[in-house]
Amino acid sequence: MRPSVIGVLALVSLTCCGQNPAVQVILTDKGLQYGKNVGATWFQERLESVTLPDISGGIRLSVLGTIDYTLTGITVSKCDFPQPSVEFYQDPTGLKTSISGLSVALTGEWMTHFGVIHDGGSFNMAIFTVDVTSVVELGKDPDGHPSVTSVNCDAEVGDVDIEFHGGASWFFQPFVDHFKGRIRGEIESKICPNVEEYIVNMEYHLQAMNVSFDVAEDLTLDLSLTDDPITDSSSLNMGFKGEFYSIRSHSEPPFEAQPFSVSKQQGYMLSMGISEFTLNSASYGYYTDGLFQALVNDSMIPPVSPVRLNTSSMGPYIPQLPKMYPGLLMDLQVYAREVPLFSFQPGAVKLDFQGAMKAFAIQPNGTQTPLFTLNVDSKLGGKVWIADGRLKGSVKMNSFTLTLAASEVGPFKTDAFESLARIGTKIVMGKLNDKLGTGVVLPRMKQVQLVNTVLEVAEGFIAMSSNVQVFPTDWFFI
Ligand SMILES: *[C@@H]1O[C@H](CO)[C@@H](O)[C@H](O)[C@H]1NC(C)=O
Ligand SMILES: *[C@@H]1O[C@H](CO)[C@@H](O)[C@H](O)[C@H]1NC(C)=O
Ligand SMILES: *[C@@H]1O[C@H](CO)[C@@H](O)[C@H](O)[C@H]1NC(C)=O
Ligand SMILES: *[C@@H]1O[C@H](CO)[C@@H](O)[C@H](O)[C@H]1NC(C)=O
Repeated sequence: MRPSVIGVLALVSLTCCGQNPAVQVILTDKGLQYGKNVGATWFQERLESVTLPDISGGIRLSVLGTIDYTLTGITVSKCDFPQPSVEFYQDPTGLKTSISGLSVALTGEWMTHFGVIHDGGSFNMAIFTVDVTSVVELGKDPDGHPSVTSVNCDAEVGDVDIEFHGGASWFFQPFVDHFKGRIRGEIESKICPNVEEYIVNMEYHLQAMNVSFDVAEDLTLDLSLTDDPITDSSSLNMGFKGEFYSIRSHSEPPFEAQPFSVSKQQGYMLSMGISEFTLNSASYGYYTDGLFQALVNDSMIPPVSPVRLNTSSMGPYIPQLPKMYPGLLMDLQVYAREVPLFSFQPGAVKLDFQGAMKAFAIQPNGTQTPLFTLNVDSKLGGKVWIADGRLKGSVKMNSFTLTLAASEVGPFKTDAFESLARIGTKIVMGKLNDKLGTGVVLPRMKQVQLVNTVLEVAEGFIAMSSNVQVFPTDWFFI
């Protein structure tokens, strides 16, 4: 009984849930501090144009009754905004943010209502040495969205001062000292609910965020979190699914992401790892959609080539062909027999391509007559690097073999044909290397750009370290 229970458990742990992240991102302390500075600057700029909600209340004057007051049109006239501090928090996993010694000067209008007597004027208020500390927990919700929840908030207001002008302010001013404690308490008690509301709002936006992105006409990239984020004293680690799917079939490939670990580089804001699985899932998606196939005809052969794609031109390679089908144009159907798979090894990217080439003669009435099928097996090796902000690469052919898989025109030797095909592939590789040498600009989003990125191919994954530049917008901070 016992062994079978263990067997079932082992099976469950293998098949259920646990998926290795194929994309890992580590935010270092340098990245966190950069984010804090961007956020603090944005916040400070916004604070000076913000209008605060009205404050209303009543002051009971023992025998005289109650004076109802409203403070309205409250705006920040000056703000002394000290650098906040942000650090990684470990229990629970999250961030601790605090600001201490914040002072704000406010101006606005006051109105009172005492029986039938209405009065009003302006006021100046100063709030001194505000300290706020907030701890948020970072997690993952069931569909892989990041989540943020407030776990603790503390606010303390050092002192408050108010000056009333106009109307019967000479009458209220003396009460200010008396009610200062209450006003200070009132403001203090409003800070944390506001911070918490802000966090709830942020969580709402995170829930609404897409974790899948259509990256091309045919592919979508799933970047949902695979696990809760993990923090230590100097970093936040996040694991993402990092899997491409064909938009049409959305089927799972017959291989899975292997575990790997990225080492953090404290000199950079981010360290990232992208598994070979990510690239292979894209390859699988293209393969299942039948996109790894091409039709090659004579008009695609460069005009300078002495060899044409027609039956007479094939004479030296397949002597019987021009006799059986004289003077006909041909075309080739080229396709992958298996999913082309990439493997990342230190310093190199390898690709195994197992393809086939089916040749047809085009009859004058348009009918395609099958001639033969050759299997093409090749191994490519390449390098990738980043230079001038562009991702560049180079490839070379490590091996290339042709074997006859089927023939409707009788047997023939493939050696001469193989040499011909090698020349053809060399031309294609030359063009490909020109393109790879020019490279592509690193992807950037509207608000975030990678800068000073370095890249290294490691065993099973590509390791990247990078700084980022953020262009904050209202959307970014909600
Ligand atoms: C999220 O994805 C859906 C479907 O792909 C799309 O219609 C929607 O516009 C996306 N929303 C955002 C905010 O990108
Ligand atoms: C070759 O294929 C291209 C694109 O599929 C097509 O436009 C062209 O007409 C074809 N040429 C011949 C000679 O069949
Ligand atoms: C076949 O190719 C040869 C060159 O090898 C060329 O001279 C000939 O005109 C071509 N025939 C057809 C039908 O295109
Ligand atoms: C086209 O021509 C070939 C060869 O002459 C012949 O075998 C085939 O039956 C023809 N097909 C049609 C649809 O006429």
